[in-house]
Amino acid sequence: MRVIVCNDYDEMSKRAAKLVASQITLKPDCVLGLATGSTPIGLYENLAEMNRLGEIDFSGVTTFNLDEYYPISPENDQSYRYFMNEHLFNKVNIDINRTHVPDGQTEDPEAECARYEKMINDCGGIDLQILGIGQNGHIGFNEPDNNLNTVTHLTGLTQSTIDANARFFKSKEDVPTRALTMGIASILKSRKIILLASGRTKYKVVRELLNEGINTSVPATMLKVHPDVVLICDKEAYASMYLGVDIGGTSVKLGVIDGFNNIVYKDSLPTHKDKPAKAIIDNVAKVCSDIIARFPVSAVGVGTPGIIDFEKNTVSATNLPFDNAPIVDWMKETIKLPIYINNDANCAALGEAVAGEGADVRDMFMVTLGTGIGGGIIIDKKIYMGAKGDAGEIGHMCIEANGIPCSCGSRGCWEKYASVSALIEQTEAAAQKEPDSILAKVVEKNCVVDGKTIFEAKIQGCPVAERVFDQYIDYLAIGIRNIINIFRPGIVVIAGGISEAGNMILEPLVKKVNSSVPIRISRLQNDAGIIGAALLGRDK
Ligand code: F6R
Repeated sequence: MRVIVCNDYDEMSKRAAKLVASQITLKPDCVLGLATGSTPIGLYENLAEMNRLGEIDFSGVTTFNLDEYYPISPENDQSYRYFMNEHLFNKVNIDINRTHVPDGQTEDPEAECARYEKMINDCGGIDLQILGIGQNGHIGFNEPDNNLNTVTHLTGLTQSTIDANARFFKSKEDVPTRALTMGIASILKSRKIILLASGRTKYKVVRELLNEGINTSVPATMLKVHPDVVLICDKEAYASMYLGVDIGGTSVKLGVIDGFNNIVYKDSLPTHKDKPAKAIIDNVAKVCSDIIARFPVSAVGVGTPGIIDFEKNTVSATNLPFDNAPIVDWMKETIKLPIYINNDANCAALGEAVAGEGADVRDMFMVTLGTGIGGGIIIDKKIYMGAKGDAGEIGHMCIEANGIPCSCGSRGCWEKYASVSALIEQTEAAAQKEPDSILAKVVEKNCVVDGKTIFEAKIQGCPVAERVFDQYIDYLAIGIRNIINIFRPGIVVIAGGISEAGNMILEPLVKKVNSSVPIRISRLQNDAGIIGAALLGRDK
């Protein structure tokens, strides 16, 4: 099987149209086998245009369509006869009597199938067959089965095909459950075959087709016995890779994910936050370009700290020199692919929701404990943005009236009590107040207090550390209980450096929160941000 990978759907459609046009030019009275579905629409548009421009002549061409729903009338706008008239036959100079679609109204499907098969043979067989591919590997309506029918036959549609085709109908219940379709041998008898595949929903099946041996569970693999098949697909169907960029204060992490959300390549570079914003972004864009040259990436997603103005597409961040920085526009100067942007905490939440701890639930809340507290709300596997794109500022939820003042102008914000910075302040204060404690000794020995200090003293059995930690977990639990009360997510995921403490933090927290909503530590850790950023491009 020859494979042609195109940049996008338009290119795929043009390539296929050129091949069909050559066939018609070489043999003006050729027999074409045609498919319906969304994939060949662009091909038919191109053929209609070429016909309009006088580049190809359909007057001698005969066509046979692969299949038709059963039962269905040709006037029904969901019938394949209607589809073909709309998308091709009414737009070109073809003799409509030479166009054939199985009769979806026949009272004797068996006789109709035999008649159809004979007509193809009587015309001398199909010169060039166009095929689409179902997500389950079907070609025509030859669904995965232990036994594949060779000739034209009446068949039942699998649930996966009914689900996939429901998009064309008012409701799933309206999708016919049966169809008349050419068989595998009818298809394989064609002299040449063009198989089209477009978009990420076809990635999995294209992989199966290319990697697996011939088997009836993926009927398209039967095409491997044919000597002249060309698969024309776009990048998304062939590789479906996306580049995720996670901009941080010290480093920028980059990763390419495949259609199964696996990171297939990872890289990182120092942010150089002392440089101007444009220089930082130009550097990132250059590394992105190098990666794009090596992987079939179809979109780029960027996670950035700070506030994003989604109307102006600019970013302002306090820990980076971004002041209304048009990051996406700057990157577009170098990268000629779609680029999407979102807040880094949102990206991490999306990554975790799709490929990490949240994979089995629809709604998830991610709490990132760091210098502040970041929140990512995932509803139905999508980032909840709020009206202005800045939802989830959970660190500024008030947990103590008239409490500690916060840089946001309010008092008693959660992050003043439960962020890692807050824990460090609490640790320092306790060590100063109790100079004879084990905690104070640990602080003295390490010369520095960080998020790990409290755990070190706790392990050594320090009662002061125990008290500080207990109080910290209380603060953390208050916020998480509030989140659960408001959102009732399927899961709450804790992320950020402190989550490395694992069960030392999780067990007491779960006990204090005392809820049926599961609380887990991020499984993907730093990779969540990369995967989530990459998914911004994929899930558009
Ligand atoms: C249509 C047909 C089907 C489609 C396949 C892909 O005549 O025989 O096998 O080619 O279901 O459909 P789309 O292109 O809509 O993804």
